Amino acid sequence: MLVDGAAVDTPAATTREGRTVKTLRGLLRLLHFVGLAMFLGGILGHIALEQLPGAEADAATIVVLLSAQVHSTRVLMMPGLFLLIVTGVWLTVRYHGGFLRVRWLTVHQVLAVLILLNTALILGPIGTHMLEVALALRPDAFDLSALHELARQELTFGPINLILTIAAIGVAVFRPAFAQRARPIHK
Ligand code: HEM
Repeated sequence: MLVDGAAVDTPAATTREGRTVKTLRGLLRLLHFVGLAMFLGGILGHIALEQLPGAEADAATIVVLLSAQVHSTRVLMMPGLFLLIVTGVWLTVRYHGGFLRVRWLTVHQVLAVLILLNTALILGPIGTHMLEVALALRPDAFDLSALHELARQELTFGPINLILTIAAIGVAVFRPAFAQRARPIHK
């Protein structure tokens, strides 16, 4: 039996079928955490690269750093988000009785949608645009004003992503009641 998303040990949980259910749930949670590590690692990597001393020393350095950021968005952050969504939807449907049943989970999912929109529609395109601008820089006398304008936008939406991600983790870990009484879900 599940109460408000928390596993409660019943005799069934000690049977073979119960153990299989527990193992699958554990595996899905593990993959959910792997997705989280990829996504959060990508965000923190972006911040670390931005702080690198001499990051704006010359056009070639700027291009290398921005290429690294765009690459990590494509190979770490977007696949991580994809893994979070697939495992999250699976966990929701299989172990939490579907969508819109438990308030903390709905808040968690709304935060995840905002993160997805911010990453895919705002931050990803800004990063790609910055790389295009950097590739057009002249090696001798380069003007960074267009790049700084884009960096300003990134500086607004980047921290928003970090805050939303920490909020989504906080809601999933502490599972506040949000004025909702615990409701048993029978499976
Ligand atoms: C950026 C997006 C996301 C982050 C950072 C995130 C983070 C987390 C974390 C850290 C937990 C573990 C809490 C714990 O076991 O103590 C968790 C659990 C959970 N998440 Fe997410 N998640 C995200 C997206 C999603 C999405 C899109 C869904 C579903 C549509 C989802 C559904 C769930 C469910 C159902 C659990 C509970 C798992 C269980 O049954 O134990 N998550 N999430």
